[in-house]
Amino acid sequence: MAAGIDDVAIYIPRLYLDAADFANARGLDPVKLQKGLGVSQMAIVDANQDPACLAANACLRIMEKNNLSPDDIGRLYISTESAFDESKAMNSYVIGMLEQVYGQGSFEHCGGVETKFACVSGSYALYDNTNWIRAGEAEGKSALVVVSDIAKYDMGSSGEMTQGAGSVVMLLNDKPRLLEFDPKVTSTSIKDEYDFYRPFGKETPIVHGQYSNLLYMIQVRKALEAYKKRVVATNLIEMKEGETILDHMDYINMHLPYSNMGKKALAYLVRHEWRQLPRWKNILEQIGTEEPIPKDPRGTIESVLGDEEFMAKDHEFTKMFTKTQEYQDVYESKLSSSLIASSMIGNLYTASLYLGFRSSLEFEYQKGVDLEGKRIGFGSYGSGSSAMVFSGVVQPEYEDIVKSMNLEAEIGPRRRLTWSEYEDLHENKLTPEESKMHTKKEFVLVDVKTETESRGERRYVFTN
Ligand code: COA
Repeated sequence: MAAGIDDVAIYIPRLYLDAADFANARGLDPVKLQKGLGVSQMAIVDANQDPACLAANACLRIMEKNNLSPDDIGRLYISTESAFDESKAMNSYVIGMLEQVYGQGSFEHCGGVETKFACVSGSYALYDNTNWIRAGEAEGKSALVVVSDIAKYDMGSSGEMTQGAGSVVMLLNDKPRLLEFDPKVTSTSIKDEYDFYRPFGKETPIVHGQYSNLLYMIQVRKALEAYKKRVVATNLIEMKEGETILDHMDYINMHLPYSNMGKKALAYLVRHEWRQLPRWKNILEQIGTEEPIPKDPRGTIESVLGDEEFMAKDHEFTKMFTKTQEYQDVYESKLSSSLIASSMIGNLYTASLYLGFRSSLEFEYQKGVDLEGKRIGFGSYGSGSSAMVFSGVVQPEYEDIVKSMNLEAEIGPRRRLTWSEYEDLHENKLTPEESKMHTKKEFVLVDVKTETESRGERRYVFTN
């Protein structure tokens, strides 16, 4: 049975921190953020928003847009790494909010859980729900898979310039208008690591940024190796002599903790694939040097990162490689459109890959590309660590959905924060009543109880 993504909706907080204001306050060159990281604006949650209400707002949008009733939804899964309760699952809060609009008990038989594995858990949720549909268990119902996060780092840390917030919801069913997933090729890699994690009770993560970047690329490459084997074993794609699997992906969507990480990861994967092919000779001739090799080629990530001479040479080599016309063609045609939304919104952890997917559909369509039949590859990564590589094909009815996509309109009118407003929000100095925006027809947080017997209970309302 076919299964895939029928529609996508987003909810992005309207407050944002501008990269230039951030650089100014932190004494950084704004070009580092804008060009070095690809960060122009970072969405910041208001004092009356949390990841559950971002998710509920995205769900309401997709349900209203598709005229869905609660009876149409068999499962509602939430993937997040911004959980605020160790036991109560975030989908229960979302159902509580949606029932304020659709009626008490209207989602009574909508099963689901909250899933966790840093930024990759949404991909696992998508895969599990796709298989629920493929197995015939859905009986005509759809699943909502929501990825919702607040990427918040310590004040003054190097991660602070890669913040953001938002929610993406995907409607899955057996007649997907947007993307049908390729069966039996989804591949994973996993390794116990401490590149990025958030211990109990801590609001912000402990991050080893450069370590995490390299681990991300290594893990996705391993998952890609497994994907290639499955593609060949299942005869999904016929590979000819001198080709790479990436030649058969019309688009490649990567996990985007910041926009330029997509560029880095693509360059890493393409280098790895091309170095085994005849075309690599021509690339090396253009660059004028052999690929640098670390002093200890079988060493650990730490030893590679600590090999300063290698790192400097490799950085230079990557720069030259990404300037070749051959790489530029891959970058422009397969990745660039997916990065636009990330630059405008920032890091969405679990949601960043899917915001990229949404971005690539909208901006490729605007270029006038006919997307029908195009294969999209996904490189998903979650710290801690696991990667997932999978693919799908854009369906004939895609235009019904994509023609009305408009990122700016869907974000709505934005408000640029001053530095002191940002500091107040970051340090949780404001109560929900002191929110900066007063939005209409949206779910907002009004109260978090502090009394011993009800500590942590949250109350939300739908604003008029
Ligand atoms: N003008 C233009 N570019 C500049 C610049 C300037 N003045 N200063 C630096 N840059 C470039 C650097 O060359 C680098 O580009 P490159 O990656 O192509 O080499 C980029 O900007 C970033 O600079 P860098 O020095 O590497 O930044 P950093 O070490 O201060 O921090 C991160 C960058 C991404 C490691 C840090 O923000 C972080 O840890 N973020 C969190 C990431 C995360 O969440 N990871 C886990 C999930 S995958």
